[in-house]
Amino acid sequence: MKKISFFEKNFSLLLTEQEIMRSIEKIANDINRDYELKNPLFIAVLNGAFMFAADLLKHIQIECDISFVKYSSYSGTTSTGNVTELIGLDVSPYQRHVIILEDIVDSGATIDLLRRSIYTRQPIDVKIATLFFKKVSYTMNIPISYSGIEVPNKFIIGYGLDIDGKGRNLRDVYQLED
Ligand code: IMP
Ligand code: MG
Repeated sequence: MKKISFFEKNFSLLLTEQEIMRSIEKIANDINRDYELKNPLFIAVLNGAFMFAADLLKHIQIECDISFVKYSSYSGTTSTGNVTELIGLDVSPYQRHVIILEDIVDSGATIDLLRRSIYTRQPIDVKIATLFFKKVSYTMNIPISYSGIEVPNKFIIGYGLDIDGKGRNLRDVYQLED
């Protein structure tokens, strides 16, 4: 099995690029079907979602816009529970169908904060699309409309996800070994 390490922590292969791409195509097909003629506004959460957003948008065939926000909650391999907005939204979600794009939903604190902030600006609706979902640690009641792959409650890196800035460039996803 493929292994990799950063900061003396060992990671082993969890998901291949092919599995990830298949999941992204499925999400894109669902969105193409559900949002035809609705001109959705995608809002991707930096940094982690940059790769997911790029690959997903290549498969979106309906009219749409995309913008980015930057939120931070993790330090090392643990969630601080404290979500901070580092870059805010520069496009109006007023009377728009908004789809938040996340790399991974863990506790749900990030999407909760972002969603609330979008709802103060009168969108038509706000839905969530996440590539990875740690269902067991999810604490919110917000429905996840598009969820790619459920992952175990372990720290993962690759395909946009990092450990203190490293590993975002990996095409596959690796999980921290016990
Ligand atoms: P939440 O706010 O607890 O749902 O955490 C979501 C954010 O934390 C994601 O946008 C990621 O940036 C980061 N995150 C959560 N789990 C992991 C992980 O296993 N690896 C890397 N980043 C993670
Ligand atoms: Mg993130």
